[in-house]
Amino acid sequence: MKRVARRGFARRRGLPLLAPLLALLLIAPAVARAWQGAPPVAPPVAPPAVPPAAPPVEPPRPTHYMGRKIAPFMSYEGGPWLMRATREKEERASLLLECLEVQPGQTIADFGCGNGFYTFPLAKLVGPKGKVYAVDIQPEMLELLAIEAKRHQVGEVVVPQLCTEKEPQLPPASIDLALLVDVYHELTWPEEVLAGLKRALKKDGQIVLVEFRLEDPEVPIKLDHKMSKAQAKKELLHNGFELVREFDELPWQHVLFFKAAREAKPTEPPAEKRDEKPAEEPAGGGAARSIPR
Ligand SMILES: C[S@@+](CC[C@H](N)C(=O)[O-])C[C@H]1O[C@@H](n2cnc3c(N)ncnc32)[C@H](O)[C@@H]1O
Repeated sequence: MKRVARRGFARRRGLPLLAPLLALLLIAPAVARAWQGAPPVAPPVAPPAVPPAAPPVEPPRPTHYMGRKIAPFMSYEGGPWLMRATREKEERASLLLECLEVQPGQTIADFGCGNGFYTFPLAKLVGPKGKVYAVDIQPEMLELLAIEAKRHQVGEVVVPQLCTEKEPQLPPASIDLALLVDVYHELTWPEEVLAGLKRALKKDGQIVLVEFRLEDPEVPIKLDHKMSKAQAKKELLHNGFELVREFDELPWQHVLFFKAAREAKPTEPPAEKRDEKPAEEPAGGGAARSIPR
């Protein structure tokens, strides 16, 4: 009788204990689902130990380099002027090509090629086994060059290459001769471009600067677009090149051949050298011709 009474008591006491347990079991999956869907609680953000770095500031575009004013580059709108019929007579382009002594099978960079006045004769000289990289900073110039390419039927010998203001975008150690006709004085970043060209040259590769003679007031070209021999040599030597040869037979231009100097010279001039302005602008004359720049 006592045992029966105790069992009944136990049943009565067990019910209130089981009820919350049952309720918990029922709501547990819903709680779990809600928990999974809930956004994670972000940990408290500690203030940075070092303040965040300011975005990199672009250095100002240089206006001068080692005492020389940098010329603005010639717009693609001047393309027809580059192809003018009188150019051969005025500049003796065929004599320039002859003095380069290009060999069949060579790889040439026509750097700052424009619409290809020199690219296509160069392609003929290197022949089907050679290559001419036609490099320019203006895509429009390369578009004009592509139109010319159809006329000249040079196949895959001519490789158009868009570059940046600082980087020639040429494969390393691949170039026998880099030709810059009326280009060097337009480079906004001559040091960077020269370093890039040096990397692109083969061991005995050469870089050829063809520049309108500043020393000659009879050369009918705007002052900014002329350069003295002394200035060209000063800049190239400073950037780790040495003079190999000069050709002085062209009517208007210097032709200077350089190769990478054996003993590397510093390529980083002090900042003030980069922007060094001349005491006074040179009086080399020759502003008669209006060049479409
Ligand atoms: C006066 S044009 C000469 C074009 C060609 N060499 C000729 O003789 O017909 C100068 C060319 O150099 C290019 N140029 C200027 N700065 C350059 C750079 N940093 N890299 C490559 N080309 C550049 C211009 O876009 C322009 O097509």
